Amino acid sequence: MAINIRKNDFIYPYFVIEGRNKKQEIESFPGVYRFSVDRLLKDIAETRSLGLKKILLFGIPRKKDNEAVFAYRYDNVVANAVGNIKKEFKDLEVATDVCLCAYTKHGHCGILKAQDKGLIDNAKTLRALSDIALSHADAGVDLVAPSAMAKTQVSAIRKALDKEGHGGVKIMGYSAKFASNFYGPFREAANSAPKFGDRSGYQLNFRNPEAALKEIAQDIKEGADIVIVKPALSYLDIIKEAALKFNHLLAAYNVSGEYAFVKYGARKKLWDEKRIVFEIITAIKRAGADLIISYHAKDIARWLNEQQE
Ligand code: PBG
Repeated sequence: MAINIRKNDFIYPYFVIEGRNKKQEIESFPGVYRFSVDRLLKDIAETRSLGLKKILLFGIPRKKDNEAVFAYRYDNVVANAVGNIKKEFKDLEVATDVCLCAYTKHGHCGILKAQDKGLIDNAKTLRALSDIALSHADAGVDLVAPSAMAKTQVSAIRKALDKEGHGGVKIMGYSAKFASNFYGPFREAANSAPKFGDRSGYQLNFRNPEAALKEIAQDIKEGADIVIVKPALSYLDIIKEAALKFNHLLAAYNVSGEYAFVKYGARKKLWDEKRIVFEIITAIKRAGADLIISYHAKDIARWLNEQQE
């Protein structure tokens, strides 16, 4: 059966900042911006008119601290964006990233046991993640996407949401998230690179495929509605195995470094951008992804629309 790419396959990521009338370029990340909410709404109108229906929001706070307070305060940047987006775009499916790395001074994905080491306090982290998810749910989010790789994060968030009457909010778990070299442009965008140590204590080792499949099974058991494999391109085998093994909605995250590769090569005329993007996205779908989180989504929607004309 031939693989067809559809607009509905995609989730388009956005970075949102505080303030007004801001659209900031990110040097290593061509075509991707940090938007204040007012400008974000304008860009979403364009995205929506191209025919895309799903977005994923990342927040960048005005202030970072050790407890990530600005991630879950009632007026946090993401909750504010979600409220505004849902008011204007009722049929848009809005997902939010639920993690601490953009909100902590040290840049790690959880609350630390001691400030000088990368050791995560799991219980405290779960509480913070649940509070973040609740603040987004109160604002009207459709899906929350915990990406901290904290143990039992999916069940903790599920419990917190249900307890507060948000049983309808779904969870998209970053289940198989590898300690990858492909996150560079994202970390520039979110200013979230760890200030010391690395994420190998909580993200997965790419030499160990079995662990990834175990994490996926665990997240499904904990109640994840969608599971993510991330990154996509160096992990097509994991996507394929997960697709064959689990009868569950599967998303692949075509991450920032994978996107930047394509963009830089296209600039140097090493390849035709549209052709290489369709080849890559087809491969991700062929491996078995039901959904693809990709910074290429807007361009793809444009190209698909041109083909129809
Ligand atoms: C962490 C997070 C990361 C990405 C999304 N959420 C990576 C990381 O810094 O570990 C990367 C996405 C991308 O590269 O596009 N919460």
